Amino acid sequence: MKFTTFYKIYYRHRIKKASFVLKIYLIITVFFKYVFNLFYLPKSKNLDDYSKENQSLFQKDLDYLCEHFNSDKGEKFKNQYAKPSKQENKLITGHGYAKIYEKYLKEHKEKNLNIIELGSFYGNASAAFYFYFKNSQIYSADINPDMYLYKSKRLINFFTDTSSRSSIEKNILSRNIKFDLIIEDASHMLKDQIISLFTLFKNLKSGGLFIIEEIDFPEKREDMRVGQEFPDLKTILNKIINNENFNSKYINEIEKKYFLENFDKIKFYTGNVNEIAIIKKK
Ligand SMILES: C[S@@+](CC[C@H](N)C(=O)[O-])C[C@H]1O[C@@H](n2cnc3c(N)ncnc32)[C@H](O)[C@@H]1O
Repeated sequence: MKFTTFYKIYYRHRIKKASFVLKIYLIITVFFKYVFNLFYLPKSKNLDDYSKENQSLFQKDLDYLCEHFNSDKGEKFKNQYAKPSKQENKLITGHGYAKIYEKYLKEHKEKNLNIIELGSFYGNASAAFYFYFKNSQIYSADINPDMYLYKSKRLINFFTDTSSRSSIEKNILSRNIKFDLIIEDASHMLKDQIISLFTLFKNLKSGGLFIIEEIDFPEKREDMRVGQEFPDLKTILNKIINNENFNSKYINEIEKKYFLENFDKIKFYTGNVNEIAIIKKK
């Protein structure tokens, strides 16, 4: 993890809000805290090597794998979002999405798929997908790709800022890959969820799935919609289900028409706390 990423994730917000004296203290000490935290950072893993010693993982279900690699998509996880030096061994409630995913994905697990997750963090979900989909290529994209901890011939992680249409075009669409599965688990901001779905939907294969995690965040959390305009993606998808028209400054007419002509089914599910939307393409 680079110093700039450590600062952005753990200190930028605190420094912004801090009193003058605390600000000075934090600015002086942040570099030492970075070096100290490097000692606690989880170790990076080459999954091609790790899999040789852990063949049994290829037979496990997705929830087991999410818990094994500590992705919050599972029922339980250790808080991976705490500063490395503050990470505890205690298991806490995860999103519990893995069991919902499994209903859709089980029949496809042996296939050679192209999968991408937006928002990789340490890459813990990519590692779970590596074992669940043993013949697939797993892509992931993040605004902080230096956080990523895994290596393999079947894993590719790269920079993308999902708040920017041009960044999605330059870093994902330009690769000309057709995906079987796209998972949006990045910023969860109102605008970013919308542009991710509507810009990437054309790169989803026929019969493919687009999953948006925490689709309820912009509705429930003010910080997930600051300076952004409703309707949020959940409202838009509900309008589509009910055959109602919708307008959003974040979607152009071509993308809207393409989506309306090419989506097959839209379903919402609730995990342990938050909601996901699963969209199937015709
Ligand atoms: C919820 S975490 C992802 C957790 C991971 N998918 C897992 O299951 O372990 C969200 C990630 O989104 C990234 N992120 C935040 N804003 C982003 C943006 N605008 N573009 C791309 N990634 C972003 C963060 O750096 C963070 O790594």
